[in-house]
Amino acid sequence: MAMHDSRNGLYLSHVPNLSSTRTTTMLSSLRLAARSRGFATHSTVQGFNGAVGNTPLIYLKGLSEKTGAHIYGKAEFQNPGGSVKDRAALGLVQDAEEQGLIKPGGTIVEGTAGNTGIGLAHVCRAKGYKCVIYMPNTQSQEKIDLLRMLGADVRPVPAVAFENPLNYNHQAREFAESIENAIWTNQFDNTANAKAHYLTTGPEIWEQTQGRVDGFICATGTGGTLAGVGKYLKEKSDGRAQIWLADPPGSVLTSYVTSGGKLIERSGSSITEGIGQGRITDNLATFINDISGAFTVPDEKSIATLYELLDTEGLYLGASTALNVVAAVELAQKLGRGSRVVTILCDGAYRYQSRLFSKKWLESKGLEDAIPSHLKKYAVLD
Ligand SMILES: Cc1ncc(COP(=O)(O)O)c(C=O)c1O
Repeated sequence: MAMHDSRNGLYLSHVPNLSSTRTTTMLSSLRLAARSRGFATHSTVQGFNGAVGNTPLIYLKGLSEKTGAHIYGKAEFQNPGGSVKDRAALGLVQDAEEQGLIKPGGTIVEGTAGNTGIGLAHVCRAKGYKCVIYMPNTQSQEKIDLLRMLGADVRPVPAVAFENPLNYNHQAREFAESIENAIWTNQFDNTANAKAHYLTTGPEIWEQTQGRVDGFICATGTGGTLAGVGKYLKEKSDGRAQIWLADPPGSVLTSYVTSGGKLIERSGSSITEGIGQGRITDNLATFINDISGAFTVPDEKSIATLYELLDTEGLYLGASTALNVVAAVELAQKLGRGSRVVTILCDGAYRYQSRLFSKKWLESKGLEDAIPSHLKKYAVLD
């Protein structure tokens, strides 16, 4: 028989065989262990929405030892929908509610092929809204199926440029405008996205590092995470914390930041998903002038680090996370030994494993040699 300790959510097997003193001691030590891992041991949360945020900050031991710095990853893959975008999804919906833009039973509409759609689909179920997702018809069947399983009405539309009125973002906006009691959440340019990170992710990192953070770096898609966390850490540290932007190949942001806003240049392409940008979104615009610097991380380094994180830390994470960790190591080297650098562990590798762990797929991208030879054993899929 299993016994449930409701305060910390742990299950103990066969406890009736233990004396009550021993049981109490065991519970206390489990509680202590939980507390040392950063959990509140006496609180419960309300459903999916209550479980968003309050993620652990993981000390990346191997990479910290290698660099002589302290490198931490915010475990956003532990959000209940599996990614950092759960925070944005919840923040966008709550903001619309606070402004009276949506009423019970209404419809949330977004143009997205990725994690924000998954986060929104969950939040909509938990709050009783309908969820409509527009996405380019080039997206994988798995993504469409997952969103449908989460109850979303998925509408694949022609994959055309942003300038074309048939682009999925414009169709999402127009559909929301055409029906009663509906909103287009507009994750790229609705600054409620960055605000969600300013109100939650930033304060959590500040508290978890006890205000000792010298640098923060991550890649951006909408820019919500970087802008919200960056603004909070910059304010709380009286400007001491350096906030850097990491970019995948094919994105224009490195050239924009390093040229002081004069250049918008892109070259190459990347296997990473959810990050990289061709413009300055309104979310990023709220913070772009306070960014200390930016650099581009090649896919070869991201892939090598993705496998290293699995091998040395036991962390099975996606490519945008691997890029962030490469960038955190580089920033720690710039800031010097003993510095404390934080980045974001955005999501798990589960959504990308048929690519990232497939020899054939990596070969097709010219990345098979990016995996260090002693780690090739992890690329088990053909
Ligand atoms: C896997 C992944 N990493 C990183 C990001 C970037 O986060 P943000 O949109 O806050 O810049 C996203 C955004 O969709 C994502 O899906």
